[in-house]
Amino acid sequence: MAKLLITGGAGYVGAVCARAARQAGHDVVVFDSLAGGHREAVSGELVVGDLRDRPALDAVLARGFDAVLHFAARMSVGESNEDPVGYFDVNVGGTLTLLEVMRAHGCKVLVFSSTCAIYGRPARVPLDEDLPHAPISPYGETKAVVERILALARPANDMRVTCLRYFNAAGAASDGSLGESHFPETHLIPLALEAAATGRPMTVFGTEHPTPDGTCVRDYVHVEDLADAHLRALDRMLAGHPGGAWNLGTAHGASVFEVMDTIERVTGHRVARTLGPARDGDPPMLVANASRAYADLGWRATRNLETVIRDAWGWYQSPRYGKR
Ligand SMILES: NC(=O)c1ccc[n+]([C@@H]2O[C@H](COP(=O)([O-])OP(=O)(O)OC[C@H]3O[C@@H](n4cnc5c(N)ncnc54)[C@H](O)[C@@H]3O)[C@@H](O)[C@H]2O)c1
Repeated sequence: MAKLLITGGAGYVGAVCARAARQAGHDVVVFDSLAGGHREAVSGELVVGDLRDRPALDAVLARGFDAVLHFAARMSVGESNEDPVGYFDVNVGGTLTLLEVMRAHGCKVLVFSSTCAIYGRPARVPLDEDLPHAPISPYGETKAVVERILALARPANDMRVTCLRYFNAAGAASDGSLGESHFPETHLIPLALEAAATGRPMTVFGTEHPTPDGTCVRDYVHVEDLADAHLRALDRMLAGHPGGAWNLGTAHGASVFEVMDTIERVTGHRVARTLGPARDGDPPMLVANASRAYADLGWRATRNLETVIRDAWGWYQSPRYGKR
């Protein structure tokens, strides 16, 4: 059992991981500004604070932690195009403050939430970890910069660091008690569930991509599978391993139309759609080669798209969905 600080643990992925960590017997404190997270998603101790507020981080890390799971970030690609400086401020500046304060308090183990957005428009699909980092959005840039900083800080600060590069985090806790509530919501599955529930049409961005049905293909990985990967990465470092970087996906791509069709099947409701132009910078296909995570961490995604959507629909219908 370890004492864990979980930044961003009131957010979507962080809250599911925090609960899994608690269930695995770890002692968990969540640190979150609630800028995008939700107080009621945290069942244990919540310290409300901003990553960029050094005294606030200092006060909490002074309590002594074995490791930090660092989820806190701004995470919308589109918004990052409108506010790149704000994205660097939180995602890079906030992480620098965290690293400095961790060093001051002798906390040397970190799991960092990275993303497939660091690869930009990849030269090959499925994507493995050896692809060059070539982000095409300010959001992706912030994550690539942090990975670079961590690669340098690891030996210099005598740290163990794991970067987990998620593809599209999706689904919800299987009991419907935790899930995705972003404001505004930009992710496909919650938007398509909203369309199913309300009958209001949603826009499909681009139907002439070089993919089998012309719509973008993504790799939707269940949030509880992501939680499992975090615990494996953490246990490995607590056992003395230096860490590493792994892609986390299912290795199966689903197109926008396939997601909508699956939602119609699972919910029994039609997903009305209008067809719009492709968005600038949307890579046609992002699918993980996650074989290294299996080889090194013994991890693989165990939940398929149908389960992702069934659980997301359960969450969508829960009275807690959409509460702020
Ligand atoms: N959701 C995805 O598909 C996805 C994919 C790849 C990577 N990621 C990464 O995973 C992490 C979690 O993503 P999510 O979908 O759960 O997002 P989220 O917005 O639900 O959670 C992020 C949390 O960070 C908190 N936060 C933001 N700025 C903060 C600050 N300055 N100080 C303290 N807390 C702050 C928010 O309040 C929120 O609770 C992020 O780092 C994101 O970049 C997410």
